[in-house]
Amino acid sequence: MARIIDGKMISQQIKDECKEEVAVLKEQGKSICLAVVQVGADPASSIYVNNKKKACAYIGIESLSYELPEETTQEELLSLVEKLNQQKDVNGILVQLPLPAHIDEDKVIQAISPLKDVDGFHPASVGAMCIGQPGFLSCTPAGIIQLLKRSDVEIAGKECVVIGRSNIVGKPMALLLLRENGTVTVCHSKTQNLKEVAKRADILIAAIGKPRMINHEYIKEGAVVIDVGIHRENGKMCGDVDFADVLDHVSAITPVPGGVGPMTIAMLMRNCVESAKR
Ligand code: GUN
Repeated sequence: MARIIDGKMISQQIKDECKEEVAVLKEQGKSICLAVVQVGADPASSIYVNNKKKACAYIGIESLSYELPEETTQEELLSLVEKLNQQKDVNGILVQLPLPAHIDEDKVIQAISPLKDVDGFHPASVGAMCIGQPGFLSCTPAGIIQLLKRSDVEIAGKECVVIGRSNIVGKPMALLLLRENGTVTVCHSKTQNLKEVAKRADILIAAIGKPRMINHEYIKEGAVVIDVGIHRENGKMCGDVDFADVLDHVSAITPVPGGVGPMTIAMLMRNCVESAKR
């Protein structure tokens, strides 16, 4: 029987740990504040941003909300980021992506002080992670490591296959698995014999962005499968993995929803607490 890795429960544990730490910090007279910046009103982004603000409220982190109009210029956004960099009572800065097409996302990410980069997207944060130096870890891959560890899945020495090479998930995921002493393979759209490569995995991370693409033909009997995809099909949520098709072949799997998704916000909260402690 496959074990279902309960991301909702594990993310709740992490949020409760953060809540306790925030209470201690507040007793020491420290306050914690996350600035949340959204440009435009993309409905999906609005949902994510609201969930982040709700998590802040639950944990006791103050959130400063900046809802800027779609036509905000790059210069205006960069000067807001600069102001927040200077503001001593702001511990974390989150600029929700994607940004409107007329704004250069890389420029904005690079404008955020690495000391407040709670998303872990700044090149300095990515570089620090790459060489094992202190810095903020990007939230989704760090959340997946927590899911594995807190479900007693051994990573060291295991064949880990990551399908997807995005800057936000695939690449940092590969680095974090390597840091945990996994033997890591990264696959992408040009990979030949994807099924054969995926089948080597003891731990398979699916971050492709194609609904239910990964069926049992990609999976070694008894593998642990982590599904990073989030899609809506006919009003129903699904991931990159065909959950029903693989269930009898895996030893453990994350569901969609309720797997990786809630972990991203929990790790963002973790990064905010770390920032306030530093
Ligand atoms: N858009 C989708 N996911 C994320 C995230 O984790 N952080 C930010 N800033 N934007 C996103």
